[in-house]
Amino acid sequence: MNALSPHRSGLLRRARTAAGRLWPEGTAVSAADASPDHPVATGNQASGGDHHASGSAGQSAAAAVIASRRGATLSKARSGRAAASTSPFAHRAGALHAEDVSLVALAQRYGTPLYIYSRQAITEAFADFTRALRGTPHLLCYAVKANGTLAILQLLARLGAGFDIVSVGELERVLRAGGDAQRIVFSGVGKRDDELARALAAGIRCFNVESEAELQRLSALAVAADTPAAVAIRINPRVPVRTHPHITTGHAGAKFGVELTQAEALCRRAATLPGIRLTGVACHIGSQLTELEAFTAAAEMLVQLADRLARHAVPLEHVDFGGGFGIRYGSESPPAIADFIGRARAALGGRRLEMLLEPGRAIVGAAGILLTRVEYVKRSGHRRVLIVDAGMTELIRPPLYDAWHEVREVTPHSGVPAENCDVAGPVCESADFLARDRRLAAQPRDLLAVMTTGAYGAVMSSNYNARPRAAEVLVDGTRATLIRRRETIAELMAHEALLPE
Ligand code: LLP
Repeated sequence: MNALSPHRSGLLRRARTAAGRLWPEGTAVSAADASPDHPVATGNQASGGDHHASGSAGQSAAAAVIASRRGATLSKARSGRAAASTSPFAHRAGALHAEDVSLVALAQRYGTPLYIYSRQAITEAFADFTRALRGTPHLLCYAVKANGTLAILQLLARLGAGFDIVSVGELERVLRAGGDAQRIVFSGVGKRDDELARALAAGIRCFNVESEAELQRLSALAVAADTPAAVAIRINPRVPVRTHPHITTGHAGAKFGVELTQAEALCRRAATLPGIRLTGVACHIGSQLTELEAFTAAAEMLVQLADRLARHAVPLEHVDFGGGFGIRYGSESPPAIADFIGRARAALGGRRLEMLLEPGRAIVGAAGILLTRVEYVKRSGHRRVLIVDAGMTELIRPPLYDAWHEVREVTPHSGVPAENCDVAGPVCESADFLARDRRLAAQPRDLLAVMTTGAYGAVMSSNYNARPRAAEVLVDGTRATLIRRRETIAELMAHEALLPE
């Protein structure tokens, strides 16, 4: 996805000095925490075949990392596609690291299954958008649904993000993390009265309204609260998108948005309704888009609609092009963020309309991994099956969307031949596989990293089979901070009651 750039260090410095300490007291995991077999790499211990270029003598590991990532940024700029990014997760001194922290050390300290995020990767992914948006009036609204962990929201708020929310729960999370209500847009097809009222009271930037009935309801609530509601009508542009059917939203028959044929009339009606201030139009055609065409077609439809409204004396202030920017899980080659934004900018032409975007996956997807331990190895038919301690309860994307996530050995074996393996979780469901048919040599007790799981990973986890949700850690250089501790068994039962005698 996003390579770290020369701007990274400046951006990080700004975020820190503007805001002071971002995290609760962090836990530095140093070389001392690593097992003797897997020391934390320092200096120029980059191993061959890895992304971390070794620097000149005396150059720090971090400087070498940044230097190598600069190279990747340049190659991306040249290619015009999102380059195979330089990952913050790389093997050094025999062990996979997150930035400068060994995953072996993290597993020892926090246990598994464990979600691990790279602060640098999130920061840089966000910067990728802001760089491309330079000179364009915009609001970048991170889609909270992709990963709503408080510290991640806090980091993004400090970087200047707005937020795209879909529930009052997400609203409260953003506010708790220090997000600015004036930078929140509220999407979603099923907003309840209490959710609309709370968002009105909080003073959010805009409601992305998805039906006439919702518009009526919001109008009544706004009048009752004597608080005008800024509204964008979300359009279903009916463009076919090549992505998994579960994550397309802008096709005929989708539950999302208002049919294009009805959109203009509804916008004109919105402009006259009491309590409503129509400020924009919006769409979101699907997630994990790997082509520009559908995004461009939808963008043009939105801007044409804005033009028609302007001709009827209904001027807008913004156009919200949604999210959906695809990332690289394996063999995909999604367009660079700058290319998506270039298409939206071209659609806007010289119009005085602010550009809103709602990226989720592209900000956090490649910044996270799921660390899991092999419990057992067995054979089933011709298969070697690795039974690991994470499953569909931690990462539901493989069973739900047939999603492919790279699985990497944290401490690769040199002497043991790799074999085709399935990686299965402990959950009592036949669909509970994290990966199928991978060349792995992993043995019982070994650690595996399921890559590119920062988006729609932890946030979609469940307690099925009475499994406590995993802990989450954010790494920043050599420092690791526990941003969500592992749930306890007692917490799983905390909200329940036994029958009276
Ligand atoms: N805006 C709206 C209105 C959305 O519905 C979504 C995602 C986004 C923005 C952010 O899309 P992104 O930039 O993250 O692609 N659980 C699925 C993805 C569901 C996406 C739902 N809507 C997955 O794991 O692939």
